[in-house]
Amino acid sequence: EKGTYDYFMLKEIDEQPFVIRKIIQHYQDEENNIKVEQAIRTEMAEADRIYIVAAGTSYNAGLVGKQVLENVAGIPVEVHIASEFSYNMPLLSEKPLFIFISQSGETADSRSVLVKTQAMGYPSITVTNVPGSTLSREADYTLPLYAGPEIAVASTKAYTAQIAVLTILAVDTAVAKGLPLEFDPLQELAIVANAMETLTDQKETFEQMSLDLFKDTRNAFYIGRGVDYYVVQEASLKLKEISYIQAEGFAGGELKHGTIALIEDGTPVIAIATQENVNYSIRGNVQEVAARGANTCIVSMEGLDQPGDTVVLPHVHSLLTPLVSVVPMQLLAYYAAVQRDCDVDKPRNLAKSVTVE
Ligand code: F6R
Repeated sequence: EKGTYDYFMLKEIDEQPFVIRKIIQHYQDEENNIKVEQAIRTEMAEADRIYIVAAGTSYNAGLVGKQVLENVAGIPVEVHIASEFSYNMPLLSEKPLFIFISQSGETADSRSVLVKTQAMGYPSITVTNVPGSTLSREADYTLPLYAGPEIAVASTKAYTAQIAVLTILAVDTAVAKGLPLEFDPLQELAIVANAMETLTDQKETFEQMSLDLFKDTRNAFYIGRGVDYYVVQEASLKLKEISYIQAEGFAGGELKHGTIALIEDGTPVIAIATQENVNYSIRGNVQEVAARGANTCIVSMEGLDQPGDTVVLPHVHSLLTPLVSVVPMQLLAYYAAVQRDCDVDKPRNLAKSVTVE
């Protein structure tokens, strides 16, 4: 069912605006208010700290989720790599709530944490694309993603769906707690869906950009600050897993503490700059690497853009920028893999769901 697409990955990237609209529909009631199961609302209101546990791309979505949950719902959030959590368990708060994020709902590393936390008697929610999956059945509650089957090994629409659902959960909690809300999440998500569409309509731009950046390179760096730092981690994971280009996502300010030594003539450095409070400093980082010969490009957002930026994203709410800035990153990785004749949907050594620890 790839239709006219060469690969499922591209089809799934294109489906993202549709998935966001579907999530909006599923999570709203007749009065256009957010609708989340009452029991989940109660758990969220009672928790003094949230522990997000996940792997890979779902972990990267969790990082963005932390930002939204802390900002909107005012609950401290820790994000943990599932495979580390089991033997490196943090000191837990008095009333922890565990959120497992998993596209497949079958990731063994995450499940082993769930087994432990349930034995300890802590409540759990699974955010998954597969209701009925192991993690969904075994957790107390499930928040479905409604993204439709994700076939390509490289996760794309699940990432954005996870962030959208966590945003809705954050807003629902804020409303339940009577916290002031400075934005209408469903309306802002609708704006996001349109912005995504603008980007998926410009595929040739990203195809060319991928050639310009990655044609003759062995490695690539992505930089960002704040929430953009979380997105560059996902950007680099996408690039390495399907194109086999060695890639890393860094916090802009951290470059000077070591990584800048790797910059050579022509090293690709892609910066994401969607946040007003770091717009000046991230651009400074780009200049630092450009001065050392890096092949730089800046992906900025309407309103914060400057002449010479390679991509200017349509404007969306500052908490929701990852949903939009990740789309060019997914497309860049996709075209890099195609240009290197890689098997985009089935990268070497990887499986769609990782059912071993
Ligand atoms: C990356 C990717 C993996 C998964 C990870 C978790 O594109 O697909 O990193 O995100 O294995 O899988 P789920 O979300 O099914 O638990």
